[in-house]
Order: sequence, then C-alpha cells, then structure tokens
Amino acid sequence: MLERIESLRGEALRALEAVEDATALEAWRIAYLGRKGRVSALMDLIGSLPREERPAFGQAANELKRTLEAAFEERKEALARQELARALAAEALDVTLPGRPTGPGHLHITTQTLRKIIAIFAEMGFQVYESPDVETDEMNFGLLNMPPHHPARDMWDTFWISDEASTGSTQGLLLRTHTSPGQIRVMRERCPEPIRVILPGKCYRYEQITARSEHQFYQVEGLAVGHGITLSDLIGTAAEFARRFYGPERRVRIRGSYFPFTEPSIEVDMDCILCHGAGCRVCKQSGWLEVAGAGMVHPVVLQNGGYDPDEWSGFAFGFGVERPAMVKYSIDDIRLFYGNDLRFLRQF
Ligand code: PHE
Repeated sequence: MLERIESLRGEALRALEAVEDATALEAWRIAYLGRKGRVSALMDLIGSLPREERPAFGQAANELKRTLEAAFEERKEALARQELARALAAEALDVTLPGRPTGPGHLHITTQTLRKIIAIFAEMGFQVYESPDVETDEMNFGLLNMPPHHPARDMWDTFWISDEASTGSTQGLLLRTHTSPGQIRVMRERCPEPIRVILPGKCYRYEQITARSEHQFYQVEGLAVGHGITLSDLIGTAAEFARRFYGPERRVRIRGSYFPFTEPSIEVDMDCILCHGAGCRVCKQSGWLEVAGAGMVHPVVLQNGGYDPDEWSGFAFGFGVERPAMVKYSIDDIRLFYGNDLRFLRQF
C-alpha cells in the first residue's frame, strides 16, 4: 500500500513540473488535491485496510498531501514570478537610451520687435508703462477729447463689451481701439511730475481682416510731458527712433494730420527702406511709408490728465508694431503673425 503512495507522489510531482500556466496548475490541483482527487481517493482506501496497517498508511497519506500542497504553492509562486518577468521583458524600457530632443523655442516675431522698440526708447530715457486692454468709453474716447457722438470716433471701429449680466448696462466698456487711453492713466498717476513713457500693448478694432489689417494688433504709444516741450522734440525723437530701428541713413518727413487729442497733429513718414524713395510696391510708388500718428498733446487732454496747459506741454505718438516688422522682414500678409504656422514663425 505504501508503494502506491510513493508512486502517486512521484507521478504528481512530475506532472506538477510540467505545469506551465495558471489553468494547467488549477487542473493539476483538482486532479490531485481536489475533493474527488487522487489523494482523497487514496484516503478513502483506509477503511479497507487491516487495522494494524491503518496508522502507518494514514500518516503516509497525510504526509503526501502536505508535500503536494507545499509543492503546489511553490509552483504557483514560481509561475507568478515567471509571469512578472515576462511582462517586464515585454514592456522593457531602456532608460539609458538618449532622450528625443525637443527643439528650443524662441520669442515670437512680435515680441522680438517689441523688445527692440522698447530697448531703443529706453536708451532715449523712456520708461515702459502698461495700461488695460479693457477700457471705458470715457478713457478710450471721452477724455481724449471725443465726447459722445463726436464724428472722429468713426476713425476707430470698436468692439463693445456687454456687461449686461453683472450691471444691466450694455454701455461704456470696450476693447481699447488704440493705446492712447494710457496717456490719461499715466498723467493722472504721475501728475504733477514730468513724464517720458512709452505704452506698448494690444489694440482691437472691429474691422475686416485682410492682408494689411488684423482686428488685433500691437501699438506703442509715446508720451512726453514737461515744461517747454515743442514739436521739434517730437520730430527729433521720431527721426532718432527711425534711424536706430531701421538704420542710420533713414529720413523722416512730416505731414499735417488730424487727431482729436493732439493739436497740431502730424503723420510721420519714413523713406521706404526697400526702394530708398524711388517708389515700389510696398510704398505704393510714393517712396514713403507711414510710420506713426503724432502731435502735441491737446490742451483739453493735458487738463484731463491733471496738467495746466498754460504751464505744461507735451507730445504724443502712436504706431503699430506688426507693420514695421513687415517692412523690415518683407512680410506681405499680416495674418501670418497670429496664424500659428510654425513654418512662418521659425524664420524669425
Ligand atoms: N491713437 C492714434 C491711432 O491709433 C495714434 C496717435 C497716438 C496719434 C498719439 C496721435 C498721438 O491712430
């Protein structure tokens, strides 16, 4: 009888060694250790043995059972380890491989241009001042000498902002159409000190988007307020800026113009940097490029800023940022600036 136990042990252990996965392992468990398995069947024989053989047989059968149970656990763990090793090998990650480089980014052409402009004015003693994109009707128009219904308001097509939900009002808030409202804000903050600042920032106009005009663009406003400031200070500043930005051979010319917030008002032109005044497509054969709107700060505006126009005078100017960049780099479509096409942006 004891031999049967021995042979079952040998058979079971060999079978267990051949087990390679969880399903086979479970089948093995049921076949040998299950309630109706081979070990149970062996135990059932006990009753049919002569009394004196029973204790030895029972002991041996129990030992067989424990051996097989232990072997089962061991095999189960071995299989789990194998499975883990397989999974790790399949998902292996070589951490020593060099990473894929992400190309370094760079500043947007507008930012580069703005920084260059700011640096030049900084050398000429202008501080940078920032003012909000969302403005009141009063700041954008009223205090700049354009009361409601003033016809000059039509020079700036406006994005109005509805604050109906919070205040019930649909009047009075807008996206600034130019950086000029910043003039009022600086004056009110600095009064009665002299002022020499530039105000770079984004402007918004409710206009058709074309190759020449976007409805969002940057401007740089300039403002100088002091005692005895004259138009020639303005012209000198404009000419100096043009030379430092575009090159020492640049010339500027002045034309009379109109803005409600300057008196007199002028337009500053610069000789075309492409044809040097001979006439080309970019300057529309005129030989000149419009650079900036400017003028002497209107007495009403000085007053609105807190300065007595009998004692103080000042000049102001405003110009776009994308246009000069277009001229400088021969870009013929302003829509490229904010179209997010890397093929364009990478060139600068
Ligand atoms: N704000 C004017 C514009 O947007 C430009 C300007 C600024 C003119 C300052 C005169 C003085 O067209």
